[in-house]
Amino acid sequence: MSVVATERLIRPHGGELVDRTDERPEGVDKLETLTLTSRELSDLDMLASGALSPLAGFMGRDDYERVVEEMRLATGLPWSLPVCLAVERAPKADRVALADEAGRLLAVLDVQEAYEYDGTREAEQCFRTTDEAHPGVARLLRQHALYLAGRVTVFERADAEFPELALDPAGTRRLFAERGWRRVVGFQTRNPIHRAHEYLTKGALETVDGLLIHPLVGETKSDDVPAQTRVECYRILLDRYYPADRVVLSSFPAAMRYAGPREAIWHAICRKNYGCSHFIVGRDHAGVGSYYGTYDAQQIFDEFEPHELDIEPMFFEHAFFCRACGQMATPKTCPHEGEDHVFLSGTKVRELLSQGEFPPAEFSRPEVAEALIAAYREG
Ligand code: ADX
Repeated sequence: MSVVATERLIRPHGGELVDRTDERPEGVDKLETLTLTSRELSDLDMLASGALSPLAGFMGRDDYERVVEEMRLATGLPWSLPVCLAVERAPKADRVALADEAGRLLAVLDVQEAYEYDGTREAEQCFRTTDEAHPGVARLLRQHALYLAGRVTVFERADAEFPELALDPAGTRRLFAERGWRRVVGFQTRNPIHRAHEYLTKGALETVDGLLIHPLVGETKSDDVPAQTRVECYRILLDRYYPADRVVLSSFPAAMRYAGPREAIWHAICRKNYGCSHFIVGRDHAGVGSYYGTYDAQQIFDEFEPHELDIEPMFFEHAFFCRACGQMATPKTCPHEGEDHVFLSGTKVRELLSQGEFPPAEFSRPEVAEALIAAYREG
């Protein structure tokens, strides 16, 4: 195998890419088994692959407290969201097995501690709200009452929903290096790519070597477009409108937390581990409803010293098609009033698509709209 110079890429968070995969240890079948939720399974898989470097397991109290209060690990390294495993009671033994809902054993956890936490305070700090109508808060407040901390060793990776798109951080890094890229911009999305997304990704790509389109495929709320349909749309769009030698499409196995600003930081740190030097943050990144201000997820980056995160955020204002300009723009680059701007809310788009109607071509490429309409018909 040829040696590729991955050292030219940004270094992983904390310096080293963690690998928590290993052989299945003896006697796993005899251990007490904990069943993980789908969000915890996503976290486990990301711990295994190094996507959450430098974390090597579910967080202990010291890390947890400092993350919740200060957005830092106990070492002082920036980290914005808890990565915790909620359990009903502390296990008796110092090692437990972790399984998915089907009972398949995936990993062992070497117990470091079990501790109580205050879900309401975590919600206030991390989600900026304790409203149970917020999907992330609802999940948090329904969880078991204790967090179980410890290093994990994963011997069976969860089945990737899209095996052909599944690349671990080591895999994306190798790919970037093979292509000779050094500066790579990552794009997080949980939606089909509409013209606004296309504008941001292409605008960002203009200034770097490559683009990682990195759609989140873990759990999302039920009215988000299912990952299956989105992946079909990404393929169509990439085939026809993006240069193949400048773009990598790969899946991001995380679950959505809908924590807005804090999740933007977390998304950026994870993408750094995947080898991205830059990360796109547009309007209301990882937001839901009206819990966050349009640019809160950009402003939060100022809470860190320059270069502390290392990965460079690329901020974009709210993008739209302007009929007067005859092109995509943002308030930063367009002097015209709202009536010239093509803007549709997510609800409006869903309404059109479910009735088999195409949104304007300035909003969504017709090929993408077609795939979405077909999915609505089948679904
Ligand atoms: S998110 O939950 O993953 O943030 P979405 O897939 O809608 O949701 O957004 C992906 C990225 O594109 C985010 O950085 C978001 O801020 C940005 N974005 C989405 N729509 C727009 C828009 N019209 N203008 C500017 N940025 C946008």
